[in-house]
Amino acid sequence: MTEKQTVLVTGGSGFIGTNFVRLLVQSGEYRVVNLDALTYAANSLSLADLEGSPNYVFVKGNITDRELVSSLFAKYQPVGVFHLAAESHVDRSITNAEDFVQTNVIGTFTMLEAARVYWNNLPEDQKNTFRFLHVSTDEVFGSLGADGYFTEETAYAPNSPYSASKASSDHFVRAFHHTYGLPTVITNCSNNYGPYQFPEKLIPLMIMNALSGKLLPVYGDGSNVRDWLYVGDHCNAIKLAFEKGPPGEVYVVGGNNEQKNLNLVHQICSILDEVAPPDEIQQLRETGLKSYKDLIRFVTDRPGHDQRYAIDSAKIRRELGWQAEVGFEAGIRRTVDWYLSNPDWVDQVSSGAYGEWIKKNYAWRADAQQEAK
Ligand code: NAD
Ligand code: TYD
Repeated sequence: MTEKQTVLVTGGSGFIGTNFVRLLVQSGEYRVVNLDALTYAANSLSLADLEGSPNYVFVKGNITDRELVSSLFAKYQPVGVFHLAAESHVDRSITNAEDFVQTNVIGTFTMLEAARVYWNNLPEDQKNTFRFLHVSTDEVFGSLGADGYFTEETAYAPNSPYSASKASSDHFVRAFHHTYGLPTVITNCSNNYGPYQFPEKLIPLMIMNALSGKLLPVYGDGSNVRDWLYVGDHCNAIKLAFEKGPPGEVYVVGGNNEQKNLNLVHQICSILDEVAPPDEIQQLRETGLKSYKDLIRFVTDRPGHDQRYAIDSAKIRRELGWQAEVGFEAGIRRTVDWYLSNPDWVDQVSSGAYGEWIKKNYAWRADAQQEAK
């Protein structure tokens, strides 16, 4: 048996991170050191089953902590980094952008600096194979009109504080490659969906609100378009880009699956009507609710809401042989099924702290919810 290679993953306890750490550990090829601060977006249940595994080490800590990050490089001698840790929700960045600057900009810079010092001192053969894989978003490119696609050539035009902070982090990654030769690869991916996503994001929010009889807030007129990719397909793309992507490369990744928000919410409601009809949910039986669609409400739009995202993934398909394997119809059913089958996880994330935070910090969104009543 070949010896497993150790990699440092940041943000491994979040939505994509949880799916990604599982992929790496289950591949049998890697030992994973997961550095995560366990912010509101992480759930300790998500990776509980990996605790004690010889191929998984969890370190609670912040990516802005240079001493800690450097000590992890020194202790674990990783063959590379998968950098996923971030503040990831646009709505939160509108209310409080500071955390986004701290984690996404300063945190990425800290990871790059520590990686550069470590990489500089590696023997030549290990220097060549080391990779710093930076996981980013298509939101850095701003908004599309009715036509066209984002590609690796699209100019940056971030519109939200979230996308501005991710754009800044991408620029630092690029600069560390061009200035210092650090072997970096960047992926810019479209909206992900699937198991373990925190319920402030559209798809899990709609599933969880519907099942508890709460209103389904659709921003504006629901015509905004997102290109949805099943999280497992994104994880495969990140792994491939790390293993096969030449230093300095960038790959955009998407599902070729554009959906208007309102259509997407209708699809979720139709699946729920079929697999968990309201009259079979104890909590909803008394309400007389016939279809979850009756819970949909149009609410005040998100400030600066990007109209459309869509990706042309030709480069990663052509150069790395990646392709999306999970079609949307199967993926969304699998996702609904996962939320229905994991009530403990759902309970844990919907308890106390998240609700309180929404009340205190989410003023415009709270107004929108109010408006919907
Ligand atoms: P998430 O919010 O679900 O998880 C983020 C994780 O990072 C959490 O576990 C959190 O505890 C950790 N974290 C946050 N700040 C930290 C800090 N300062 N130090 C250490 N850990 C910290 O996010 P996600 O949706 O899994 O996204 C992961 C990455 O993928 C992000 O970089 C995001 O920008 C990018 N991305 C996300 C999507 C998407 O649709 N979710 C699409 C494209 C790219
Ligand atoms: P979101 O999941 O927050 O991802 P992003 O803003 O990164 O694309 O939102 C996806 C789309 O759904 C976006 O156009 C905003 C919209 N949306 C709603 O209409 N209602 C909601 O409650 C949420 C959270 C999002």
